[in-house]
Amino acid sequence: MTKVIAVTGKGGTGKTAITTLLIRYLTNKDNLVLAVDADPDTNLPETLGCDVEKTVGDIREYMLSERDNLPPDINKESILESKIYEVINEMPGYDLLVMGRPEGPGCYCYVNNLLRGIMERLIENYDIVILDTAAGLEHFSRKLIHDVDDLIVVTDGSRRGLQTAERIRDLVSELDTHVGNVYVVANKVNSSNREKLKELAIDLDLELIGTVPVDEEIVNRDLVGTPLFDLPENSAALKEVNAIAKRLGL
Ligand SMILES: Nc1ncnc2c1ncn2[C@@H]1O[C@H](COP(=O)(O)OP(=O)(O)OP(=O)(O)O)[C@@H](O)[C@H]1O
Ligand SMILES: [Mg+2]
Repeated sequence: MTKVIAVTGKGGTGKTAITTLLIRYLTNKDNLVLAVDADPDTNLPETLGCDVEKTVGDIREYMLSERDNLPPDINKESILESKIYEVINEMPGYDLLVMGRPEGPGCYCYVNNLLRGIMERLIENYDIVILDTAAGLEHFSRKLIHDVDDLIVVTDGSRRGLQTAERIRDLVSELDTHVGNVYVVANKVNSSNREKLKELAIDLDLELIGTVPVDEEIVNRDLVGTPLFDLPENSAALKEVNAIAKRLGL
């Protein structure tokens, strides 16, 4: 059975950073891992240190533009499927699929319907699929993934951040995607607000699965533009994300 983990939360809270460090943890385990950058504003390849040339979005545009030029007797689903496999980036310890550009104007139903089936089959090839998503739930998983086992809501270390997490948890039942567990990770936390946040999470009945500290090394790497994937073992954020991964049973 494939375990699907999706990382969500408000803009700039650290979804991509946390996803990157979870992927790093997973690559040290004996699992087949598919990482999916489901944010049209693609960032995950950069933090992973992976050059990506083509995305699912590019293939979708190609299929739409070629739709009427393809011979009628040709199986369009198998063409699309083989093209999706071509844009999977094989990295050491994991594969990376980037969804890329959002849909432009026009009707994408035809190609999205094909994509849904392809994604379902693709996911079955892996033990763990982990998605970095765009902020907000409106385009959550772009309806391409039906079942998420663990939804990780990343918030900043503030009261309002936790209240947003509470709202996200309550909205989950209205999604087309079925979600199993909802966990909260408070990111960019410092020693003065950590205990208060834990108490607040209990009051709000949120399952706070980790509090990730502000990490100067992440700040530095962000400024220079170097990947987060190979943060040193003694990085405070990395240690906490590793602990979160263990709590998630990964
Ligand atoms: N624990 C941390 N310590 C210090 N800086 C962090 C930490 N986590 C994330 N950051 C920084 O915060 C900023 C936002 O992080 P990130 O891009 O991961 O957020 P995001 O939620 O994915 O954003 P977006 O909504 O734009 O996708 C980045 O500059 C990142 O380097
Ligand atoms: Mg991001």
